[in-house]
Amino acid sequence: TNGLTVHELAQEIKQPDTEVIKFLFFKGIATNINQTLDIPTAKMVAEAFEVEVETAEAESEAKKTTEMLDDADLENLKQRPPVVTIMGHVDHGKTSLLDAIRKAKVASGEAGGITQHIGAYHVDVEHDGNKRQVVFLDTPGHEAFTAMRARGTRVTDIAVLVVAADDGVRPQTIEAISHAKAAQVPIVTAINKIDKETASADRVKQELMEHGLVPEEWGGDSIMVPVSAITGENLDLLLEMLLLQAEVEDLNANPDRLAKGTVIEANLDKARGPVATLLIQNGTLRIGDSMVVGSVFGKVRAMIDDRLNRVEAASPSFAVEVLGLNDVPQAGDEFEIFASEKEARSVADDRATDQRQSRIQQSLASRRVTLNTLS
Ligand code: GTP
Ligand code: MG
Repeated sequence: TNGLTVHELAQEIKQPDTEVIKFLFFKGIATNINQTLDIPTAKMVAEAFEVEVETAEAESEAKKTTEMLDDADLENLKQRPPVVTIMGHVDHGKTSLLDAIRKAKVASGEAGGITQHIGAYHVDVEHDGNKRQVVFLDTPGHEAFTAMRARGTRVTDIAVLVVAADDGVRPQTIEAISHAKAAQVPIVTAINKIDKETASADRVKQELMEHGLVPEEWGGDSIMVPVSAITGENLDLLLEMLLLQAEVEDLNANPDRLAKGTVIEANLDKARGPVATLLIQNGTLRIGDSMVVGSVFGKVRAMIDDRLNRVEAASPSFAVEVLGLNDVPQAGDEFEIFASEKEARSVADDRATDQRQSRIQQSLASRRVTLNTLS
């Protein structure tokens, strides 16, 4: 044969005529669907579209792994709250902002209402007439990102970039932007300290534009909210904007399965034994669940939420303190739940053996190097 028409090719590669002709038009190859293409050209087009199809698949694959979802979950997704971390230059008000939001939104009458007790807290926000939540991690943003990059998982959904309006964009601001971009985490900017006389939100916006963040009000797609951690101005608006950004991100998980997630922090408590704060990223964690974290295992004996309440279950995006592990797991490790304690123990044992073996091999290897050097 001496080729096929654009229309025939479009059918062959299962693409709309309009897409194929658009592609060919911009390449200057063809202008209507009845035009005949030679075989090499047709192949080139097919490859170009195949690549696009593959990329789309790869993206949804990547989304699944970064969000800890598998195929079965995709049929049972429910909206989950955004998990937010705060980044920014030293002294620009990261801690003050976290504290101000907690004080403003968590009733002080509630147990643990004011004092920070685990490395995360949630606030309730009225959004479009619904009660929604935002979860804040107080892990320094850059640490959360480093852990994420090392593991390819996503602990943070949104980064709040704090920039002091009286100081503007500084080195760590720029560093924070590049960290978030590399991790593909969207940025919502809090232009802080607007109560100060020398504050200029516009100057901050201008400086941020030089680093690729263009505010919505200037035609870009970056959300920027002027706030004050001291007076509390616009904190509600900031929360509102975080929920708006969360809607864009389409954050989902399947609560009807065994939990999966990441250790935020862990330590050995003299009275209670190993204590781990876990971020639930998929499924629901329940009392009695058999857990493996690295080579640590156990049965969830008690769970305490960020407001010091004992809870029976924890759902996606929430953080809880968990008791019942046989040892202190590592922050950043992922946890998994198994159907039985026996299974959990054997998975943990296998991992412990693997770890021992690789340690032995490493030490043998280093000894060999030493012998070689000596001889
Ligand atoms: P590091 O943890 O050291 O990086 O600092 P940070 O970003 O956590 O800043 P922090 O919250 O400690 O605030 C630094 C200083 O700025 C403190 O003296 C705060 O009281 C002050 N500050 C924070 N937010 C505001 C604000 O909105 N207005 C004013 N006027 N001062 C603020
Ligand atoms: Mg601080």
